[in-house]
Amino acid sequence: MRFAEPFKIKMVEPLNMISREERERALERAGYNPFLLRAEEVYIDLLTDSGTSAMSDNQWAGMMLGDEAYAGSRNYYNLCEAVQDIIGYKYVIPTHQGRGAEKVLFPLLVKKGQYVLSNWHFDTTRAHVDLAGGHAIDLVTDKAFDTTTPYPFKGNFDTDRLRQTIAEKGAENIAFILITVTNNSAGGQPVSMENIREVSAIAKENGIRVFLDAARFAENAYFIKKREKGYENKEIVEIVREMFSYGEGFTMSAKKDALVNIGGLLSFKEDEELYTQARSMTVPMEGFPTYGGLTGRDMEALARGLREGVNEQYLSYRIGQVEYLGKRLQEGGIPFQSPTGGHAVFVDAKKMLPHIPGVEFPAQVLANELYLEAGIRGVEIGSFLLGRDATTGEQLESKLELLRLTIPRRVYTNNHMDVIADALIAIKDRANTLVGLEFTYEPPILRHFTARLKPIKK
Ligand code: F0G
Repeated sequence: MRFAEPFKIKMVEPLNMISREERERALERAGYNPFLLRAEEVYIDLLTDSGTSAMSDNQWAGMMLGDEAYAGSRNYYNLCEAVQDIIGYKYVIPTHQGRGAEKVLFPLLVKKGQYVLSNWHFDTTRAHVDLAGGHAIDLVTDKAFDTTTPYPFKGNFDTDRLRQTIAEKGAENIAFILITVTNNSAGGQPVSMENIREVSAIAKENGIRVFLDAARFAENAYFIKKREKGYENKEIVEIVREMFSYGEGFTMSAKKDALVNIGGLLSFKEDEELYTQARSMTVPMEGFPTYGGLTGRDMEALARGLREGVNEQYLSYRIGQVEYLGKRLQEGGIPFQSPTGGHAVFVDAKKMLPHIPGVEFPAQVLANELYLEAGIRGVEIGSFLLGRDATTGEQLESKLELLRLTIPRRVYTNNHMDVIADALIAIKDRANTLVGLEFTYEPPILRHFTARLKPIKK
């Protein structure tokens, strides 16, 4: 039976589309960097899936039950119970968002000069490894760089390289292993249970601790159910519990799969000593450990969102919508990281704009053109994000030049997906007329967010 969105719409937020001329002026004013647009100048906003979800009536009802006690709020206990029920971990610390959890945890684990090994560190995660005095190494499978072949688990670790890296650096120099589910940077691609199990076994052999970066844990579990043998008849929660059983703690940006607009979690399976240390560090950094930078009502919405996020009908709709956009793009001949990921379609700008070299930021060019075409805002994940070599100052060339079309949860309909697909297909026909970009202002750090650019006149 055909099944549409597993919800009906109770409240709407009007969208406005400004004219082509206004969009041209807005983009010029924004220095050809969509981060600097005003959100009101955007029609369909695909910048991120983070904090952009629509909450349910049940979550909004929970907001009214916020207990704003400084210490020991009842909503904190509801949150702990949700984590224990779904994930099976004993100790829970709320944080203001994912990076808050990273900021508290990493200095407790990393000694100066040590390495952190991950399938792929998210930008803030890498930054917190650096800030803690460590070095972040990404060990994703090479399959992630072949955007055309639809391998089922492109988010996996390359376990041969993991073993090799541990042998080379010495197990005592590895602070911990971080499994990112799903693998955002590789295209929202899942990590298989088999891979998680193997990584955990390698870690155990070498006496290395394992943590999860769990921002999109429910989407990962859904992919395991759909793609991995032996999981097709398991409940999502069973799969989630097994995934987390291989780690001893996790950081989570709750702004993704937990369906809230703000919030994060730091949690430990059973290590009371580490929990106690983390709790102490939370006080000066995030807040008293029973609120960690969140209000009571935020924690209630989060507790409820965690439960909704593992509902299989919801996940089937959610992943199905991203897949639907992928299908439309495929029919239109647009190249993208295939299969589509959990939270986004990553368009392969290197393939779509082969005449623009990496140093002229083809995916940023495509992002700008998509905004001009239909008021849609995507985000570049390529050389513009990557930056320069720290010693030589030379612009690095990213292996992939991707335009991430990140789909907010429960926000847009498939009609919006059609508008996005039609716009990209229209651009494809004139792709060879687009020109590269150069800097007019380049800040020394985190340039992606504030740099200004202009089209290169040839
Ligand atoms: N880890 C992963 C895998 C993430 O994708 C993010 C955020 C974080 C950690 C940090 O969490 O934003 O709550 O502090 N990703 C967002 C994105 C910003 O657009 O991909 P946060």
